[in-house]
Amino acid sequence: MTSRPSLDRVLMLLHAFPLDKSVWDGVVGPVSEAGWDVVVPDLRGFGESRYGPDGPDDEPSLAAMARDVVGILDRIGARSAVVGGLSMGGYVAMELLRQAPDRVAAMILADTKGTADDDVARANRLRVAEQVLAAGSTEALARAMVPTLVGTTTLAARPAVVDRVRRVIEATDPAAVAWAQRAMAARPDSLPTLAGFAGPALVLWGEQDVVSPRSEQDLLLASLAGGRFEIVEDAGHLSAMEAPEAVSAALVRFLAEVPAGPG
Ligand code: MLT
Repeated sequence: MTSRPSLDRVLMLLHAFPLDKSVWDGVVGPVSEAGWDVVVPDLRGFGESRYGPDGPDDEPSLAAMARDVVGILDRIGARSAVVGGLSMGGYVAMELLRQAPDRVAAMILADTKGTADDDVARANRLRVAEQVLAAGSTEALARAMVPTLVGTTTLAARPAVVDRVRRVIEATDPAAVAWAQRAMAARPDSLPTLAGFAGPALVLWGEQDVVSPRSEQDLLLASLAGGRFEIVEDAGHLSAMEAPEAVSAALVRFLAEVPAGPG
């Protein structure tokens, strides 16, 4: 996490699954330079917030992750923040909006979905959870996921990004993968929650994203009263890792129009 924010322009950025806060490495600098205090946590079980040897002991739910985020806002003394999330991070941001709407000054939803899983997707998540726990490793998961997480341009022309994504996934704790898959499988439809949000919102989408398709972005935008849409060219689902300059520029443009709050 970055150092203690100055409480008036706080941006909380939540990472994708099954990755960690390094998803935002290329974004934190430019957005900080634009005058924002950027807070980038590892969601529970991921990155440096790795579980202990006994693994997670509470029921998998995005509500628990959102409570963690409220805890961070409390600790840094921020009454509210602009909350942004990439994919799973977006699910957590929407859960935070459901739980503590007064803490969300504006939203950034990147390569994510407002809908709940259908039965097939839910069953697949539960199967992956079992598989990684049985394997005790995320190597097979990395092999399976990397080609769909990044876009065709990144696969063809950004080998360092592909390698970084693979390495982060391989370093992820299987217990965190299983817990988060079960939490995401249980998530509700967030579109009604978004419909009740009157603040500024940015929907950001890598044009090669096949994980959170364009149709899902249209649903987000139809639900958000104050939603603006930006497309990130030559990027897939992990837009912030694949095209950090374009994502940073989109964030800075959006944040310039967000009224500075009390933090
Ligand atoms: C992510 O990138 O966070 C995942 O694709 C989210 C999901 O599995 O739905």
